[in-house]
Amino acid sequence: MADNHIASLLEQMTLNEKIGQLVQLATPFLKGASDGGQITGPMKNMGIDEESIKDTGSVLGASGAEEIMNIQNTHLAENRLGIPLLFMSDIIHGYKTIFPVPLAIGCSWDMELAEKSAEIAANEAAVSGVHVTFSPMVDLSRDPRWGRVMESTGEDPYLNSEIARAYVRGFQGEDVTRDLGRLAACVKHFAAYGAPEGGRDYNTVDMSERQLREMYLPAYKAALDEGCEMVMTSFNILNGVPATGNKPLMRDLLRDEWGFDGVLISDWGAVKELIPHGVAEDEKEAAQKAITAGVDIEMMTGCYTSHLQGLIEEGAIDEETVDEAVLRILQLKQKLGLFDNPHRGADPALEEQVVLCAEHRSAARELAAKSSVLLKNDRVLPLNPNQKVSLIGPFARDADILGPWSWLGAEEDTVTLEDGLRQYVNPDRLTIAPGCSVESGTEEDMQAAVHAAEEADVIILGLGERSYMSGEAGCRADIRLPDAQLKLIERVKSLGKSVVAVLFNGRPLDLHGVLDEADAVLEAWYPGTEGGSAVADLLFGAVNPSGRLAMSFPYTVGQVPVYYNHFNTGRPKDAPDAQERFVSQYLDIPNEPMLPFGFGLSYTTYEYSNLTLSSDTMTAWDSLHVSVNVTNTGEAAGEEVVQLYIRDVAGEIVRPVNELKDFQKIVLEPGETKTIAFTITEDQLRYHHANLDYTSDPGRFQVSIGPNSQNITTRTFTLTD
Ligand code: GLC
Repeated sequence: MADNHIASLLEQMTLNEKIGQLVQLATPFLKGASDGGQITGPMKNMGIDEESIKDTGSVLGASGAEEIMNIQNTHLAENRLGIPLLFMSDIIHGYKTIFPVPLAIGCSWDMELAEKSAEIAANEAAVSGVHVTFSPMVDLSRDPRWGRVMESTGEDPYLNSEIARAYVRGFQGEDVTRDLGRLAACVKHFAAYGAPEGGRDYNTVDMSERQLREMYLPAYKAALDEGCEMVMTSFNILNGVPATGNKPLMRDLLRDEWGFDGVLISDWGAVKELIPHGVAEDEKEAAQKAITAGVDIEMMTGCYTSHLQGLIEEGAIDEETVDEAVLRILQLKQKLGLFDNPHRGADPALEEQVVLCAEHRSAARELAAKSSVLLKNDRVLPLNPNQKVSLIGPFARDADILGPWSWLGAEEDTVTLEDGLRQYVNPDRLTIAPGCSVESGTEEDMQAAVHAAEEADVIILGLGERSYMSGEAGCRADIRLPDAQLKLIERVKSLGKSVVAVLFNGRPLDLHGVLDEADAVLEAWYPGTEGGSAVADLLFGAVNPSGRLAMSFPYTVGQVPVYYNHFNTGRPKDAPDAQERFVSQYLDIPNEPMLPFGFGLSYTTYEYSNLTLSSDTMTAWDSLHVSVNVTNTGEAAGEEVVQLYIRDVAGEIVRPVNELKDFQKIVLEPGETKTIAFTITEDQLRYHHANLDYTSDPGRFQVSIGPNSQNITTRTFTLTD
């Protein structure tokens, strides 16, 4: 449909029909819906009447080709102008074939596989009738108390940005207009939702504009630069104003400065939440603030439906403001071809073949293995199939390893840790006992577990958090494993056998009682549908662990927030002349995290040598070439993530002690050496100055390369005028 058709369609629309396009309802409200769909927020009385439902513009949480085609057909039969519905859903890390949670994918540092996972998710969802996914979530997060860190890709703006791009490429493909097997992506939650005070969901976010632009905004911008079609507002306030009514953030920055002219949707109920936030007296004022801020679609509340007409009639807002929002929505529908083909890629027959097919499972298994991080290995891994194995712990057989945003992912389709081990260990060499549940245990169960383990050569402990213990509103102030599990570790440890802990969790944990007690620790996160297979592949060495932490593991929750790209302070504890007392330190714990950003072990070892710069100076017009030799000095082939960090030694304002600026994930055979080359350009040295100018300063810089953010080799160069 040509743009002029959209324009003429808009002219034919009544005001009520226009306002209807600005409303998004969950599936239960729609005629033709046979099931409740996915409900991801409070279902309250919305004041939406039958008439309004006929005019609604989009639906969230529906799935299944038949179901969605039925809802669409029913809607089109009742909608006066035959304007099709947009179907949007949370396809965060898989549709039915569930991939590892995004925080795990962040630890893979593998952009190709990240993109592939989004492409597969899009293929499965598109053939099932979905048009838009509320993903990627790119909220930078430094606080593991926050439940949604599992949905983020961690603490670094550069890594987050690279993964955001990969996700958008995977979801949308080259041209989402033509490729019916793809989805329009919706980057979220704009903005800085990952920085709530106290790590408590929906809580206050307050930071300088400089910090916002330097750390929190880059990944949203990267997604939009990659062509992401939509943006979702965040629940939080930003510097005193809720994002969903924040005109400077949404109009001035997102639309005017960044030039975003796509659809902006509120998060669930976030328009009406302007009232409890305390910036709107009532739903009418909430509607006025949100539409003025440029929010096109109100998700799951009825402020727009109930009050936009009145606001226009009394001249509080112009009808043009509503028209521009409607136009953006109609243009997205047109872009997705819905006027000519309202069912787009929905295909019940193809759905049967594509969804959860072997190829998709295989990709999920590969990515889950590459997203797991080996945190410790005192010569007990990899295992050999002749060993007698005792599998203990709440996650020995539990299929709750898909994560809290896995929606249609089914536990019955999931490969558990037991299922995975049975692919390697003969039944007569495997004993299994839970020992305790995730949250509690009995002495009887403990004893049964210890007894089961008595004859084993090695004990594998499946430990972790229930998926409800992270995700949205899943925040924890105590980020240790539950006491019952810590006791279980102690009890099996007393047998004097090798103990391997496998962790299924959605956040960096305080690993006291785990890292010090177990002989090996594998962080599997929520690894998804093929999680058990992937973990077994790693434990038995079919795959050499290559994951690297995308988020620091704190020494204890009292250290939070702890992150690698921090400022140095005027009294750094590690200064050569540091005093005993008057330095920036704790009296009772170290400053450093338990495990740093970028950390991860392998079954082989690597040696870095010969870090060389092409020059010790560079100008803004040329570039600096950096090379380093990396040798596999062990017995097994492996993948290493070579990380490049830069430090601006003296800026106009303080600069982080290091910043990730590039990385390469390389394969090395035993004994093989590769020379890895990077190029540094002046734009990588820029930052937001006190006046927010984004420029670089001449002066001294350090460039460091290594396997993680702490174990680095450093050289110095100077940027000259
Ligand atoms: C939820 C989440 C958001 C999700 C939306 C729709 O509250 O905050 O990430 O996309 O509602 O399900």
